[in-house]
Amino acid sequence: MKPIKVGLLGIGTVGSGTFNVLQRNQEEITRRAGRGIEIAMVADLNVERARELTGGKCEVVNDANLVINNPDIDIVIELIGGYGIARELVLKAIANGKHVVTANKALLAVHGTEIFKAAQDKGVMVAFEAAVAGGIPIIKSLREGLTANRIQWIAGIINGTTNFILSEMRDKGLDFATVLKEAQRLGYAEADPTFDIEGVDAAHKVTLLASIAFGIPVQFDKAHVEGITKLQATDISYAEQLGYRIKLLGIAKRNGSGIELRVHPTLIPAKRLIANVEGAMNAVLVQGDAVGATLYYGKGAGAEPTASAVIADLVDITRLATADPGHRVPHLAFQPDAMSDTPILPMAEVTTSYYLRMNVADQPGVLADVTRILADHSISIDAMLQKEPAEGESRTDIIILTHQTQEKNVEAAIAKIEGLPTVMGTITKIRLEELS
Ligand code: NDP
Ligand code: HSE
Repeated sequence: MKPIKVGLLGIGTVGSGTFNVLQRNQEEITRRAGRGIEIAMVADLNVERARELTGGKCEVVNDANLVINNPDIDIVIELIGGYGIARELVLKAIANGKHVVTANKALLAVHGTEIFKAAQDKGVMVAFEAAVAGGIPIIKSLREGLTANRIQWIAGIINGTTNFILSEMRDKGLDFATVLKEAQRLGYAEADPTFDIEGVDAAHKVTLLASIAFGIPVQFDKAHVEGITKLQATDISYAEQLGYRIKLLGIAKRNGSGIELRVHPTLIPAKRLIANVEGAMNAVLVQGDAVGATLYYGKGAGAEPTASAVIADLVDITRLATADPGHRVPHLAFQPDAMSDTPILPMAEVTTSYYLRMNVADQPGVLADVTRILADHSISIDAMLQKEPAEGESRTDIIILTHQTQEKNVEAAIAKIEGLPTVMGTITKIRLEELS
């Protein structure tokens, strides 16, 4: 059988990794796919560099339209990134009847509904394993391996840059700004790392995971997004003393009345495996009703780890290209006419536990006032840590861990406690998940 022809849009980090791995493992990949997979055309703005990278093994052009309009191309890989030109090219490729592989989580989290609908109407596949947690096959695991389960929740370390920063802050006791500079020097964080450190990248990824897990439309606009920029070294240290680590988690969870979709720094027990995922590594913990907890760990970025996921999608498409569209695995795991309208809950209705740090006057009755306010809001205390005031100081930090409660209760209690004359400044609130 003739090889399936692929057009690659963008030969940067992931594009070049994809080209190289496909060349290197061509024979084995063909044995698996049942047919050769040939990158026949590459489009990149920098044609010189693209020619160097491809070594004359395929046609190189500077206009991506030449690839998506070429009738000989069966699959288009979009590795340009962003929501702009990438969206336009992906939609045009679909309209031209091409299957699409992309690693672009931003594009799918924001425009996924439009893109999947267009692909469905045209009978082509859009595959995006590389868009979440790089080389970890989490999309395939959720969509296929766990298909028997009612997924209860997912909690993932799905941004390597922030995990590196948090690991360094904990290990070396450094503050956020210092470690961020180090991450940039080492090339982990972009010159503009906003999407990573503000939690946006993780929110793109958990939005996609939630759709696949619960059969709901892609709804990035409803996700709660909170990054690590305000996290203080002192909270990492207090969390440690209480037996917890702080990680930036992407969480998607069923909750009686809807679905929680949130990204924020989270305390997790230090004894959990996922709490020990360090540096730029990623991990995703999935709780299914039949299987229980399963954990997926690996490299969430980088040229070849991400290429591994891109090529897995190419192989899947190659195997299924001739199948009746109705017999393929649905893009979002559930059949398009069986999607659920379960709402994404506002943060006020999220249920979790909390770490609260407050600076108080070291005098009788202060703790009693604080605990009374918590009790008035039906908030039960799980653990507490009170520090000795520093030499010559009359103020001290109190750290309280609560049992599970609704966010609106905690917000109301915090407002009351901050009004006490014995409590200084604002209260630091970090959510806590036992993940058990
Ligand atoms: P790069 O910036 O390294 O590569 C993008 C490439 O696309 C560059 O070579 C760029 O050329 C080229 N390009 C830009 N505009 C066009 C255009 N209009 N036509 C053709 N080519 C164009 O990005 P990455 O490889 O890092 O990322 C690609 C995608 O993969 C993104 O969506 C990213 O989020 C995702 N991803 C990346 C991971 C990683 O580890 N890097 C991990 C997981 C996902 P030029 O440089 O000349 O502008
Ligand atoms: N910026 C991402 C990270 C790259 O730090 O994990 C992969 O999506």
